[in-house]
Amino acid sequence: MASGTGSLLAALIARADEPAPFRIVAVVVDRQCPAADIARRHGIPVIDCRVGDHPDRGAWDSALTDQVADHAPAWVVTAGFMKILGSTFLSRFGGRIVNSHPALLPSFPGAHGVADALAHGVKVTGTTVHLVDAGVDTGPILAQQPVAVRSDDTEATLHERIKSVERELLADVVTKLVTKGVVIDGRKADIP
Ligand code: GRF
Repeated sequence: MASGTGSLLAALIARADEPAPFRIVAVVVDRQCPAADIARRHGIPVIDCRVGDHPDRGAWDSALTDQVADHAPAWVVTAGFMKILGSTFLSRFGGRIVNSHPALLPSFPGAHGVADALAHGVKVTGTTVHLVDAGVDTGPILAQQPVAVRSDDTEATLHERIKSVERELLADVVTKLVTKGVVIDGRKADIP
């Protein structure tokens, strides 16, 4: 699931081509975005499900859940998907949704993790891959990688450097999840 330039998606597609033990059965977008073009270029079905095309958020949530369920995914990966998932979606796919975030959670959750870390003056930030729960970027952490902040960093330069680490980490975690699964002990998650 993606809303942006789709570089995380491209990394997953590259990994799936290697060959890896996973196949991308569909790509969900919630707007017109380069991620959708990347999917189409690779012959991957695109589910274009926009909030604005539905009477309300609940109707969008139900439609999205049904359209994703049609593809029967083992795992759902949100890779720069800029919408909070609804309760219907979460109850259908909960525990099998993985998100990638451009900060070291639990610090700097939300849509502005890179800018918030920079504004706070941290010297190290990074990227986190975690399971999605009902909160915003609060689910059990699967993997993290640090990225040093440079004194001349802007949000754009820092985000680009984070994304170059994030792409590899996400592809690694998805590969491990499909081959090994995940063990959850309370709030702690581990890939064996
Ligand atoms: C990633 O940093 C993701 O964590 C964030 O948005 C970025 C998506 O990048 N939420 P891209 O569209 O895959 O290039």
